[in-house]
Amino acid sequence: MLDGLPKELKEKLKQIEQEAFLELSSQSFDEKSLEDFRIRYLGRNGKLTQILKDIGALSPQDRPTLGQLANTVKGTLTQKISELSDTLKKSQREKLLQETQIDITLPGRPSYSGSFHPILKTMDDIVDIFKRYGFQVAEGPEIESDYYNFEALNIPKNHPARDMQDTFYISEDVVLRTHTSPVQIRVMEKFKPPLRVIVPGTVYRHDADTSHSPMFHQVEGLLVDEAVSFAHLKGILTYFVHELFSSETQVRFRPSYFPFTEPSAELDIGCIFCLGKGCRVCKHSGWLEVAGCGMVHPAVFEAVKYDTEKISGFAFGMGVERLTMLRYHIDDIRLFYENDLRFLEQFS
Ligand code: PHE
Repeated sequence: MLDGLPKELKEKLKQIEQEAFLELSSQSFDEKSLEDFRIRYLGRNGKLTQILKDIGALSPQDRPTLGQLANTVKGTLTQKISELSDTLKKSQREKLLQETQIDITLPGRPSYSGSFHPILKTMDDIVDIFKRYGFQVAEGPEIESDYYNFEALNIPKNHPARDMQDTFYISEDVVLRTHTSPVQIRVMEKFKPPLRVIVPGTVYRHDADTSHSPMFHQVEGLLVDEAVSFAHLKGILTYFVHELFSSETQVRFRPSYFPFTEPSAELDIGCIFCLGKGCRVCKHSGWLEVAGCGMVHPAVFEAVKYDTEKISGFAFGMGVERLTMLRYHIDDIRLFYENDLRFLEQFS
């Protein structure tokens, strides 16, 4: 009976081998079906495994030949499976690479970079010019006491000069500063002369139309030393105008009034649009008003306990919006605060 067995097993082995290779060549596999195939033949209860177990039960004479044969079949099958699995993995990787490929020839998405607001740009430019003249930057609070905004600047309560600046009151003694001049007082209280400061800042006045905004910007300047004269003031401001506009720009100092300077003047520049011929912007005068200035009033020095016998100084204040409108030919102040990108992008 045992004699018949090896022959039968050999037949069965051949049959399994044929079956397996037929399946392998006629079917296209994916990872899952290949694994199923492997289990069906080589798994613990696989067809080939079963035969190997049966061969183990054969007589010692029959075992080696059949064993060898079975092992060869097993070897070829294992190798074939691993080859197929390799090809599958490779083609999967290629597919993934194809799908995730980046076309580096496509045009890029534009990236928008921010830019300085024209007001800030002008303010920086002004400050930079004065820094080169040896001025140091100082700043002060926007919510200011009546004392610094008015009183110490020689503008007592009920003084008609208070009407020059329409004030936002927070309480009886606290205001939104109407100008950057209070910083003059704050700086002089803290430091002894000589001093040169330039003060950029935001100020507030109850006023709104095409050339006035309730919130706007000023740059204040203050220089205090021994024997400072009006000639120094004229010299520095003339240099400044030539740097901010052009060396051709005309300059004129027109007598004016401020409670905290004496004498006081208004700085005018020759109209940069019509070059003095007269146009709509300069209201046909040929001149544009750009800053207030004057020699620091002795009452102001007294408020900060400076010796009026020994020292003198000058101060000036200019509106940044107005200067920016002139520089860039902008005719409505409200454009600065709408933050319309089409407007702002022109200054980047
Ligand atoms: N503070 C004044 C204003 O706002 C400008 C000014 C400053 C005038 C300094 C003289 C000196 O109108």
